Amino acid sequence: MKALVLSGGEGSRLRPITHTSAKQLVPVANKPVLFYGLEAIAEAGITDVGVVVGDSEAEIRAAVGDGSRFGISVTYLRQDAPLGLAHAVLIARDFLGDDDFVMYLGDNFIVGGITDLVHAFHSHRPAAHILLTKVSDPTAFGVAELDVNQHVVRLEEKPQIPTSDLALVGVYMFTTAIHEAVRAIEPSQRGELEITHAIQWLVDQGRDVRATTISGYWKDTGNVVDMLEVNRSVLETIEPACLGEVDADSDIVGRVRIDEGARVIGSRVVGPAVIGAGTVVSRAYIGPFTSISEGCRIQETEIEYSIVLRDASVVGVRRVAASLIGRNVEVTPAPRVPFEHRLVLGDHSKVQICS
Ligand code: G1P
Repeated sequence: MKALVLSGGEGSRLRPITHTSAKQLVPVANKPVLFYGLEAIAEAGITDVGVVVGDSEAEIRAAVGDGSRFGISVTYLRQDAPLGLAHAVLIARDFLGDDDFVMYLGDNFIVGGITDLVHAFHSHRPAAHILLTKVSDPTAFGVAELDVNQHVVRLEEKPQIPTSDLALVGVYMFTTAIHEAVRAIEPSQRGELEITHAIQWLVDQGRDVRATTISGYWKDTGNVVDMLEVNRSVLETIEPACLGEVDADSDIVGRVRIDEGARVIGSRVVGPAVIGAGTVVSRAYIGPFTSISEGCRIQETEIEYSIVLRDASVVGVRRVAASLIGRNVEVTPAPRVPFEHRLVLGDHSKVQICS
């Protein structure tokens, strides 16, 4: 079995973070979301992995390399335009050959991996096996209707009036039957070849299409609330460790990981939290559910339930919470007299000020 991992796409829902970084590389507990997917694939015993890339190819290649550190071998497949998930299967035809494969969307996060699902697929080898999860806003997803025997009877992509609250999760397992399906369908209204339509084509042909309903799923809905939540749930499972330095005036409480070269000076860190390599935390409070990436400076600041990306500095800010702070961002106090806010914000930034 092979894997096809999709790492193209624009990430418009996660702006401004994705103006400068691929959405698949947005970190959860200081690790790119894509890496969790690659690890899940390796854990399921799949080593031959095609990674479909678009404009952010260079960045994805730099992060993933040849895949050896995940125990997989990566072949990069270039998709020149984001023409849809079924189009990605089309361009991967030679790579996939006659193997069964799992298609994994690189911006999806599935708690608990895919090993059991891959085993379930192997025992029946249906034409397609999809994963579903209950969502509150089905209009943002592909949705599926099941019959009483849990067989898939109808699928619809981003329905305006959903007939089900079961959304397609971004992991699909296929036999070679899918290749005929992706050639048979026409582009959708958004101009993409939809994998949802290809699977519907299989259903219409009377092919066996099965579904497993899961919980513990997250997608980049653009809602930072979701990112903070997935970050929280992953932080709850980290192994506490201290590979950096903590001085005698500091207090580390609970599940906290401090990476190489990080320094904690005169501060209190209450886990679960991670402090990235080379970051300096001084005279600060880092509260629960916080991920601080590498090379940051957190000084005379209180921060909790937040994600700070690499090389950012937050200095002299009384309390930051429920925030996502991008790379190289600087947050500092403005002069108190006159009372003012001084803002230099990138396109699509969102700021909530306590004033
Ligand atoms: C795609 C699929 C959709 C699926 C979703 C899961 O949507 O088209 O059916 O529910 O991935 O992440 P997109 O990310 O292209 O909006």
